[in-house]
Amino acid sequence: MWIQGIVLLIAAGLTLFSHSLPAQAAYDDPTPSVELGAKVYAARCVLCHGGKGMGEGILPMRLKEYPNTSLLTGRVAQDRAGVLNATVLGPHYRDLSHYMPPFGKELSWSELESVSDFVMLLRTDKTRAYALLENVDSGRTADRKLGQQIYSTRCVLCHGQFGEGDGRMSKLLKTPPPADLTASRLPDQYLKDIIVKGGEAVGRSKHMPPWGDQLTDAEINSLMLYLKAIRD
Ligand code: HEC
Ligand code: HEC
Repeated sequence: MWIQGIVLLIAAGLTLFSHSLPAQAAYDDPTPSVELGAKVYAARCVLCHGGKGMGEGILPMRLKEYPNTSLLTGRVAQDRAGVLNATVLGPHYRDLSHYMPPFGKELSWSELESVSDFVMLLRTDKTRAYALLENVDSGRTADRKLGQQIYSTRCVLCHGQFGEGDGRMSKLLKTPPPADLTASRLPDQYLKDIIVKGGEAVGRSKHMPPWGDQLTDAEINSLMLYLKAIRD
């Protein structure tokens, strides 16, 4: 048993060592960041660990014998180093289940560092971690062109062809008039709120309708991309 342990340690050392070779820097590996970590997590880990890191992934839900895959508390990987080792080595790290794949050869060193930071963030600041994941999702499904199409059917009547607040209806809506969206500088969360819930819900004019029931989340995100693109 202890011989096996030593072999594993050597294997771990080799994997870690090969990653720290200076040659690695030649492939422009981006600087590690939790933002990159969230991206890697969304692409490679959600299936088994779930979008909330609580082990509510699709796979565990389907298989009865599946081990608990919650990452919020570590069974074997309690600290940052443990998480990194578990991610690099998978089933070769301590007694991790063979269902946990080794990512040492599949991800770049920066991706491995980043996703480990992200797993730690899931444990220490869930709100921030979930917000980062949400950003990854909306980035993936949002599409400015789609946003433009929706704008031209739903918003143009009031906000005008170029978003300047001079649509047909602006002759009737004067106090206040439809906003000039090219001059708008609303932060993302407020922008989303006023589109989803309408003006009245955020203490503004009730003539700005709520769109949450009529548009999907991806459509709203696409609209937001478009609106940010027409700001001057
Ligand atoms: C095919 C399914 C699968 C995928 C994909 C997967 N994991 Fe896992 N992972 C598991 C399972 C199952 C366990 C639980 C193992 C156990 O408790 O023995 C686990 C355990 C872990 C642990 C240790 C948790 C503990 O309790 O200490 C970490 C850390 C981890 N995974 C990170 C990741 C990261 C990061 C990714 C994405 C890069 C990832 N996993 C992708 C299945 C998966
Ligand atoms: C019936 C007219 C009308 C329609 C249709 C309409 N809006 Fe508005 N919108 C308004 C009015 C009026 C305001 C100004 C609210 C205020 O200042 O209190 C406004 C304000 C806004 C603001 C706030 C801008 C800022 O900087 O404060 C945004 C963003 C916005 N609308 C987006 C949209 C989008 C996106 C659509 C289409 C999905 C849309 N609106 C459709 C009337 C409309």
